[in-house]
Amino acid sequence: MSAGLQAAVPVIAIDGPSASGKGTVAARVAAALGFHYLDSGALYRLTALAARRAAVALPQLEDDAARRQQIETALAEVAATLDVRLDGEHVWLAGEAVDAALRDERTSREASQVAALGPVRAALLERQRAFRQAPGLVTDGRDMGTVVFTDAVLKVFLTATAEERAQRRHKQLMEKGLSVKLEDLLRDIRERDARDASRAHAPLVQDAAAGLLDTTGLTADEAVAEVLRRYALCALPACK
Ligand code: DC
Repeated sequence: MSAGLQAAVPVIAIDGPSASGKGTVAARVAAALGFHYLDSGALYRLTALAARRAAVALPQLEDDAARRQQIETALAEVAATLDVRLDGEHVWLAGEAVDAALRDERTSREASQVAALGPVRAALLERQRAFRQAPGLVTDGRDMGTVVFTDAVLKVFLTATAEERAQRRHKQLMEKGLSVKLEDLLRDIRERDARDASRAHAPLVQDAAAGLLDTTGLTADEAVAEVLRRYALCALPACK
């Protein structure tokens, strides 16, 4: 598809903090509209996982500038050459389904480390933009509206209080038979919020054109319906 035609493909960009439910909402909105869906966080998780498998080190506090640059270049190369397939059901890395490994605690922590690096973000930029295919794309992450798809037709900043997000995660884990303390989850969520919002490259901020959607007290269905309602308004001049 030519660049001009690609730019005409509508994008709905949903950004927000971790555990806000934006992935669930974005995937359901995409299904309702028959659009493609991109979970951009998966690409950072895949970079972390692929780096571990290739024994590429992550930056350490004690690294000097030269070593740090070397590591960042190596990680950007991993990001640029990821052999990945996202088919909507599974995530494949070099032909292997890696869904469970992608979501574990270690990968979450390492993904947040690689996501802080400018060269890694730059390496993933065009890869994310390539997901913009007819008839449309719904995508979720931290910088979809602010950096990757600045011309998105609809931008939503989806959030919920840290307490509500911790409770949702707690419920999910309990349903999986895993017991984790609510206060530990709350602490992790607050730490990740602070890290995502304070990093130098593409920090989590609400784009000026993004409408806030606070899902505290809303079900996923209600949040999906609200995004679809806003998208339907996009045919009108005021699209928020
Ligand atoms: O949304 P998630 O938890 O799967 O994201 C994994 C990590 O990647 C998290 O630390 C935030 C980061 N991320 C990012 O920096 N930019 C994005 N567009 C998506 C995720």
